[in-house]
Amino acid sequence: AAAPVEVTVEAAKAGDVIDRNIFGQFAEHLGTGIYGGIWVGKDSPIPNVRGIRSDVVAALKAIKVPNVRWPGGCFADEYHWRDGIGSADKRRVQVNTNWGSVPESNAFGTHEFMDFAEQIGADPYVSVNLGSGSPAEAAAWVEYMTAEKDTTLAKERAANGHAAPWKVPLLGIGNENWGCGGAMSADHYVEEMKRFTNFIRNFNPAQREKDKMKRIAVGWDGGKLDYTEQVMKAWKDHVYSWDIEGISLHSYTVGGAWPPHRVATGFGLDDYAAVIKDTLRMDQLITTQTAIMDKYDPAKKVFLAVDEWGAWLTPTPGTNPGFLMQQNSIRDGILAALNLNIFARHADRVKVANIAQMINVLQAMIFTDGAKMVLTPTYHVYRMYVPFQDARFVPVKFAAGEYVRGAISMPKLDAMAARDAQGHLWLSLVNIDPEAPASIHLSGYKSASGDVLTAPKVDSVNTFDAPSVVAPRPVSVKGKAGGLTLDLPARSVTVVRLD
Ligand code: AHR
Repeated sequence: AAAPVEVTVEAAKAGDVIDRNIFGQFAEHLGTGIYGGIWVGKDSPIPNVRGIRSDVVAALKAIKVPNVRWPGGCFADEYHWRDGIGSADKRRVQVNTNWGSVPESNAFGTHEFMDFAEQIGADPYVSVNLGSGSPAEAAAWVEYMTAEKDTTLAKERAANGHAAPWKVPLLGIGNENWGCGGAMSADHYVEEMKRFTNFIRNFNPAQREKDKMKRIAVGWDGGKLDYTEQVMKAWKDHVYSWDIEGISLHSYTVGGAWPPHRVATGFGLDDYAAVIKDTLRMDQLITTQTAIMDKYDPAKKVFLAVDEWGAWLTPTPGTNPGFLMQQNSIRDGILAALNLNIFARHADRVKVANIAQMINVLQAMIFTDGAKMVLTPTYHVYRMYVPFQDARFVPVKFAAGEYVRGAISMPKLDAMAARDAQGHLWLSLVNIDPEAPASIHLSGYKSASGDVLTAPKVDSVNTFDAPSVVAPRPVSVKGKAGGLTLDLPARSVTVVRLD
């Protein structure tokens, strides 16, 4: 067996705080992400609180979801908030034109979303409709959510069941307006963004300065630079009352050129390597984005929100292709850990990230089918990474090695560390190599204990019938005089506390 890789945690060096919001989720009105996945209705035989399924709430509470982005995605730029408030039987039924052309009942609207966010303990990240809506409509929605005084909209909210104003800590100013959000040029978007942020006001006085609503403008996806450039340029020069606090980056892992063509299960080592290699591009994408932002904002006042990311694979056979349902294997768990590590390394700029999407859609945490629920490998990584929420980044030195598969070469090992508020040191180790175990050596620690996630095969998944094929198991090693050695199974994610 190969000698253990020496890993040095530079515990005396403290980096930036890893904002808990990088562990954010995304829930769009898409397929069964909302209807079935979250919302089953008050009269459902599936246990629920006010229509929101309790098994899903309990599972999400365990991963301490910091924020949920809603209602889209592409859906957001066709969403009219008034369709989703008031008596359920009077709500407008429309066609979900983006996703499968199925009926959208609007049964899940603002009150239901806020209730869901509250039940799981997450902050709402609301995306307003810039593409087909108006600044007046968006401003009225934010007033409806946040007004505390006796205004007409605050009274209407109270009449609909919620007297107290809600907090809206994160607000998206459109979504992919270069594409499904209206195919706008960057210049056109910037003019709209200025109008929207100028007129939208948060009326909730409980939102202290540090929690002030942060407005996130649209940036680029993997292929475009102009939005980021124009938005940042406008931000630098702005003198009037509009403002933004963040800008987005969307990037999906497809394992090569668009469109998605890699299968989610039943694949081998070639596919594994192609997808993992592709996901590692995230580091370069953030570096490129950051370089543009640095030109206009060297003090890093504006943050980067990677508010759509994850694996986009081919749909599960037999499902509606517009519902974007795909299985989730150990490869997805590894992919999630690698991206979270990249965000942590860019903690100075990346303050928000939202994996797409939370339930039943793309790289999901949870699958549901009627009353059944199963947790995915990606979910388990999010649970293992809870200690990194708001922990302070600590640099780690290690030789990453090389894994080669055909023409593809990539690192074998990845590592990331942070110190939590209680002073505990946490280390994540990803053995990217799908074929061979590895081991690492650490000096100066008495013990390492935590969890390891691996699987029998490179494409192992959890199903409703076999829900624990990919599940974390505890790991604990004691140090000797020379330090401690930790074994890392092939294709695994390990998170340990070092003492
Ligand atoms: O997450 C699915 C879709 O991907 C979103 O609606 C859109 O913003 C992106 O193109």
